[in-house]
Amino acid sequence: MSSRRFDPSGGLRGELRPPPDKSISHRAALIGAMGEGRTTIEGYLDAADTRSTLAAVTALGAEVNVLGPSKHLSSAAVDAGDPGPERSGAIEVEIEGIGLRGPGSRYGGEEVQINVGNAGTLLRLLPGWLAGQERGRWRLDGDESIRGRPVDRIADPLREMGAELDCRDGRFPPLGVEGSSLTGIRYELPVASAQVKSCLLLAGLLADGRTEVLEPALTRDHTERMLRAAGVDVSSEARTRLPTGPSPKKISVGPIERIEPGSIEVPGDFSSAAFPLVAALVVPGSRITIDDVGLNPTRIGLLGVLNRMGANVIADEGDSAGLEPRGTIVGAHGPLRGTRLGEAEVPLAIDEIPLIALAGCFAEGETVITGAGELRHKESDRIAAVVDGLRGLGAEIEALDDGLVVSGTGGLRGGEFQAKGDHRLAMLGMVAGLASREGVNVVGVEAAEVSYPDFEADLARLIRGEARVASA
Ligand code: S3P
Repeated sequence: MSSRRFDPSGGLRGELRPPPDKSISHRAALIGAMGEGRTTIEGYLDAADTRSTLAAVTALGAEVNVLGPSKHLSSAAVDAGDPGPERSGAIEVEIEGIGLRGPGSRYGGEEVQINVGNAGTLLRLLPGWLAGQERGRWRLDGDESIRGRPVDRIADPLREMGAELDCRDGRFPPLGVEGSSLTGIRYELPVASAQVKSCLLLAGLLADGRTEVLEPALTRDHTERMLRAAGVDVSSEARTRLPTGPSPKKISVGPIERIEPGSIEVPGDFSSAAFPLVAALVVPGSRITIDDVGLNPTRIGLLGVLNRMGANVIADEGDSAGLEPRGTIVGAHGPLRGTRLGEAEVPLAIDEIPLIALAGCFAEGETVITGAGELRHKESDRIAAVVDGLRGLGAEIEALDDGLVVSGTGGLRGGEFQAKGDHRLAMLGMVAGLASREGVNVVGVEAAEVSYPDFEADLARLIRGEARVASA
């Protein structure tokens, strides 16, 4: 494990194009492999998590060609005649799909081992596809952190559809999946999880009858968008009409013979961009522009929260003709005030909650986060890890069973911060260091490789004010 020190920095300045979206990249590789013919992915994330997905679909028989660094520019950048800053961690990938029933028809008779590494999205989505194969046995396993991620949330409904699955202690990986014929079900998700929803929608493509998934709160809809573009009839309707706030959905799919994803453009990852964004809000003298970032409304709950905190943030949706809305965000340092968020808003900002806690340390008043019990089941127990980590830097922060309470003191002293093998915590520690009074020693910085390998380098360029690379 390597530790690195992050000292108080001057303001962050310049432009940045964040790495490609991790959630969308996982889906593009899986859905590309499920498709017929060739799928081209413009701007696939080149990071540890998404490399696990390329390896998994290769193990199933799909042919993956990495064509090299992505030269692709969004149509908005082309229209503006300005390619903007270089984008880190983007590669161009071609996948020759094996078709919806490919894993079963190519099955050689011996259980296939799939190493998902640290990738929870791969662990939860892939079994949906495998469960519906007419024959075959697969076993999914990964690193130490993945062995603590519950899989009963997908195993229970997949069994209801007719699949056979086994897992350790009835709840954890390794997860064994045996292909079976499936029947569509109507399933009310006990937790608001896009991963579980997506798993069941993929299984639904291979099941008899319709598969309906009812979510308790709105969750990210990347799978629905990508399946629709590949020719699937995905229906999605609001479950309730809430007077305020986003409405949860009922989503359904029916069986289909083939899907044709064609070409998929991946926008910048909002969740990765959120780290330099919040850094700019809390480090005095900062003003940054984040280009070509995904602005899907089911992902950008953080912007609403920051708005209530009084942050200097403006998001501008550009030309969003593709699968996913994308645009530009400008953020600058300024005073912040505490806010509250609860269960309806949490899934829309689930991976950004640690950053909301950090912003809360720099705010005036209290920031209260509830309805976020799911954070205990992420790459680490993010409630415990954020409380321990930020308290060690001088924060006044308390854990709740399902959230956090931060009493803003206007700053952070500094000290030592443990990443606990969690990529988002490693980046949180780095941002905390830049904004602290005395600097932060981040233990386990290499965890950032999972989603944003160039994070440290991008931060360094913003600190030097050079975060713009001459156009290619
Ligand atoms: C993800 C969904 C969320 C999120 C995770 C990625 C996805 O998890 O925290 O980082 O790609 O669907 P849950 O579905 O468990 O909420």
